[in-house]
Amino acid sequence: MFTFPLVNTCSSLGIGLAGFGTVGSGVWNTLERNGDLITDRTGGEISLHVARILVRDPAKTRAITSEVPAGIFTTEWRALVADPAVAIVVELIGGTTDAFDLVAAALRAKKPVVTGNKTLLAERGGELFALSKEHRTPIHFEAAVAGGIPIIRTVQDSFIGNRIHSFSGIINGTSNFILGRMTEAGLTFEAALAEAQSLGYAEADPTLDVNGWDAAHKAILLATLAYGFPIDPAAIHVSGIQQVRQADIAFANNLGYVIKLLAVIREHPDRAVEIRIQPSFIAKSHILASVHGVFNAVAVHGDAIGEALFFGRGAGQDPTASSVVADLVEAARSLRQVDGHRGFLPYCESGKFLPVGDTSTAYYVRFDVTDRPGVIAEIARVLADHRIGISGTHSPVNPSNPDAEFVDMIFLLHTCPFGKLQCALAQIETLDCVNSTPVVFRIEALA
Ligand code: NAP
Ligand code: HSE
Repeated sequence: MFTFPLVNTCSSLGIGLAGFGTVGSGVWNTLERNGDLITDRTGGEISLHVARILVRDPAKTRAITSEVPAGIFTTEWRALVADPAVAIVVELIGGTTDAFDLVAAALRAKKPVVTGNKTLLAERGGELFALSKEHRTPIHFEAAVAGGIPIIRTVQDSFIGNRIHSFSGIINGTSNFILGRMTEAGLTFEAALAEAQSLGYAEADPTLDVNGWDAAHKAILLATLAYGFPIDPAAIHVSGIQQVRQADIAFANNLGYVIKLLAVIREHPDRAVEIRIQPSFIAKSHILASVHGVFNAVAVHGDAIGEALFFGRGAGQDPTASSVVADLVEAARSLRQVDGHRGFLPYCESGKFLPVGDTSTAYYVRFDVTDRPGVIAEIARVLADHRIGISGTHSPVNPSNPDAEFVDMIFLLHTCPFGKLQCALAQIETLDCVNSTPVVFRIEALA
């Protein structure tokens, strides 16, 4: 029987690991556990070791499975990038300031970059991809979208022959976890968020998880990959899960829905791209309704592939490390190639957006009203004036206070452009009986 000789034909490549928190420690542990396997699987071509680690506090106790050699830590990112023992730079510190300087310096030094930082690439990707092109040095970012799910490489490589019609999915593990815990265990929002933080799912500043912007940054990256042009974050519509109450969850449940923070990216026939992130009612029978906890799912619709669904852990130490390590091997391969650049580069300067006002779905709207005769009629009149159809109304009664003065009034509305709804709601908000800004969730009719 013939066997391939598995010899290490190359010297080990040094990694500069910037960040040794949840994900950085996971990368260390994964390389410790599976480094030899990677070398075998690459026919002895790739061997990796961590040459330098950047942290804020070298004295901190770390969740790692083997001892880190003394003297490997630095608190100065310039020292990590400049170290001749570092061939590939992994950015896992987060944020958009030091992380930007570090990644830019690495590209200028022609050291391939691996990052999980979606905020950095969504907000400052234009500058970094320009540097990547100028210095013919790749940026790999599989871990930046949907944690352990290999969606970046799939879109970039496996679906390269497809025109992508749409993505729809759950791409923030923390908010999905929180909604799940509020639904299944009746936890408060705050208690569920604290659990997500303790499990290493949330961002250092969890505001981005709950206000929808973490998912928005990931949607920007997916759209840039699929449509080739840089996306201005200011152009997309984002709302988060902060306004979801137990009452909304219960009401959705009674109607046969679950509430999920949904990202929708869709190319329209005139090539205008729609991007929006918001809490949405999804039918319980839809496959995305059964995506629980920290799991993510991305449904991709391409003209050749049709519908494809990707499912897996969207956050957390090991799943994210899995993506970082895959990128490390890709980066190592690029160093071994003559032409050297297999990373993504935007290929169009600009593209068209569909304004959010022109996007249409059905809606769930919750009004905080003063309960008096005629309230429903007052709201309904404004909706009718704007030619927005009502499919149902409901006012949940508080059994311990059936004569409460202030109550929630729920309206389910037929499909209409969001801009039309916004005009109607602006007028409704001025009614005496309406006490605060109405809360709107989309009701998505997903394929
Ligand atoms: P984390 O646990 O907060 O770790 C951050 C690490 O970076 C820490 O080791 C910290 O040092 C170090 N650091 C931060 N700022 C620094 C600075 N200015 N100079 C030197 N060191 C600095 O964060 P994480 O959860 O691992 O996330 C890292 C990145 O991966 C973020 O961009 C995040 O969005 C992304 N990501 C995270 C996940 C996840 O599930 N957690 C999933 C996908 C992508 P100290 O340890 O000394 O404080
Ligand atoms: N905070 C992010 C999430 C980490 O919860 O999805 C993965 O990007």
